Amino acid sequence: METKQDHQVVASVQGMYTEHPFPNTSIVNTFWSHPHREYLKRAGVYQDGGSGLRILEGGCGTGEKLVAHAKTFPRAKLCAIDLTPASIQVANFHVKEFRAHNVEAIKQANLMEPLPFPDESFDVVYSLGVVHHTPKPYLAMQNLGRLVKPGGYLFFWVYGALGQLWRIKKLNYMTLMRKGLPAEETEQVVRDSFKEASFSFNVRDRIRSLSSMKGINFGLLAQSLLVAIKRRRSFNFVGMDDSNLYDGFLHAHEKFYTGEDVVTDTRKSGLFIEDFIVPELTLTGRVNRMSDLMRRQWEKLTPFERLQAVDAITLPNEYWWVCRKSPTPFSKSVPEDYGSTVKIVRTAFDTDQDESR
Ligand SMILES: C[S@@+](CC[C@H](N)C(=O)[O-])C[C@H]1O[C@@H](n2cnc3c(N)ncnc32)[C@H](O)[C@@H]1O
Repeated sequence: METKQDHQVVASVQGMYTEHPFPNTSIVNTFWSHPHREYLKRAGVYQDGGSGLRILEGGCGTGEKLVAHAKTFPRAKLCAIDLTPASIQVANFHVKEFRAHNVEAIKQANLMEPLPFPDESFDVVYSLGVVHHTPKPYLAMQNLGRLVKPGGYLFFWVYGALGQLWRIKKLNYMTLMRKGLPAEETEQVVRDSFKEASFSFNVRDRIRSLSSMKGINFGLLAQSLLVAIKRRRSFNFVGMDDSNLYDGFLHAHEKFYTGEDVVTDTRKSGLFIEDFIVPELTLTGRVNRMSDLMRRQWEKLTPFERLQAVDAITLPNEYWWVCRKSPTPFSKSVPEDYGSTVKIVRTAFDTDQDESR
């Protein structure tokens, strides 16, 4: 890690997740692993339950996605890292509880530093909702990239700035309302404004889970229900708990991405974008609804221009993309001088924005 400020950001992110490990979940949502399996199937990498694959999760939190991937790729071997020992403890508990026997190791590590696995030792690396909480997302991607075998795949998921404008506005509102308050009262103001914000927050989540029905693993869903009953915990379908409150509204550091930022950070990391898999950006989905004339025009666009076109007509909540270590048609179509025009970084510290990226 280079700067004192980076240390501060990482320490404060770790402090937050120590108090409130994320996600606080009793249901393992297999949606998160389904698109990866489908993508790898199309690429001819996935076969026979993931036999022979070594998969790493960068920033597993409490292990919801780790369990989902372990069950989706039952013959693969999985490892994970996370910054926060408290989250790792819960993740280990979930791995046992869900009998995810193919999870080999969860290690404590900081994505801003070299990671505790040999270079080029994984076929697939995925990191969902993590790099946007680090002071230098490109460095996190670079460090994860080192662990991928030549020809392997990396999947990343980050917040999309355009689709999160409502949340950014709420955050700005909270910042205003917190002005000059001592810590205890600050939290109350945030809780009060979270209640105001919760309607749109929950609707967004519910819509997402509906769109994930296709990828549901009913066996794992049944197992989740049994686990929840065993724990005698009420289901938290609306997601209104402190874990969500802190992750969504009291975060020490988060960056909201535009499509341009995704391209810029990926390029800085030395990796190459292969494709986008987030539903809003599934380009073929949109193309299927186009008139013949529009479709002919669409066919003329480079892969990069297609991203720009989709960005221009949708407000993505998220970007979910696939990287490789060698140049791809997408990366070849990105102009040399392409750079960020919109930067939205939220941090608890006063930062030199360029330095903190
Ligand atoms: C929003 S949670 C996401 C957890 C999990 N990926 C999921 O989607 O359920 C972010 C996680 O990233 C981890 N994290 C944040 N900064 C990190 C860093 N610099 N190195 C490693 N992990 C980090 C946190 O400890 C936390 O568990």
